[in-house]
Amino acid sequence: MNKIAIFASGSGSNAENIVLYFRNKNIDIDFIFLTNNKNAFVLERAKKLNIKSYLFNKKELKEGIVNKILENFNPDLIVLAGFLLLVPESIISKYPNKIINIHPALLPKYGGKGMYGNNVHKAVLENKEKISGITIHYVNNEYDKGNIIFQKECPINDEDNVETLANKVHKLEYDYFPQTIEKLLNKI
Ligand code: GRF
Repeated sequence: MNKIAIFASGSGSNAENIVLYFRNKNIDIDFIFLTNNKNAFVLERAKKLNIKSYLFNKKELKEGIVNKILENFNPDLIVLAGFLLLVPESIISKYPNKIINIHPALLPKYGGKGMYGNNVHKAVLENKEKISGITIHYVNNEYDKGNIIFQKECPINDEDNVETLANKVHKLEYDYFPQTIEKLLNKI
């Protein structure tokens, strides 16, 4: 059975969607959720989905507690889905090409520190872009700089605002993130 560790700092709707995608296809996967935010709704989702979850703080992430959790779990893939902290080098070097992130824009534009959530959509709209989309990429030690695995575009209309653009992007994430993960697992 494949094992996936999902890191999320907030709502975790992608985390849940990934779990449901595989459950609906009757593909058995062992999941854990990890979060740095005690108020993150992803913890509620974990309970509902009956998935083991772990909470840690920034200091613990640096000091190696998360390394230990991962070592014990031994994941085939580590998925960052709305995870807002930088993954330490000690984890990145142990899982080459096994850590992926989803970014709510078309990298290399609109990436880097501070470019998360609605900040991204705001910047895209302010620059009057005609398209946005999603990028799924490998994670290295710089925010949003790892090799790109998959991108998908969506159009932006004059009527779009942060909320409608976020909805379009989320829809792409729900449609393509699980599929991309499945393809990656098949290559392992
Ligand atoms: C997504 O838009 C993802 O691209 C970004 O953070 C958001 C997480 O949303 N990195 P959710 O927590 O999965 O609902």
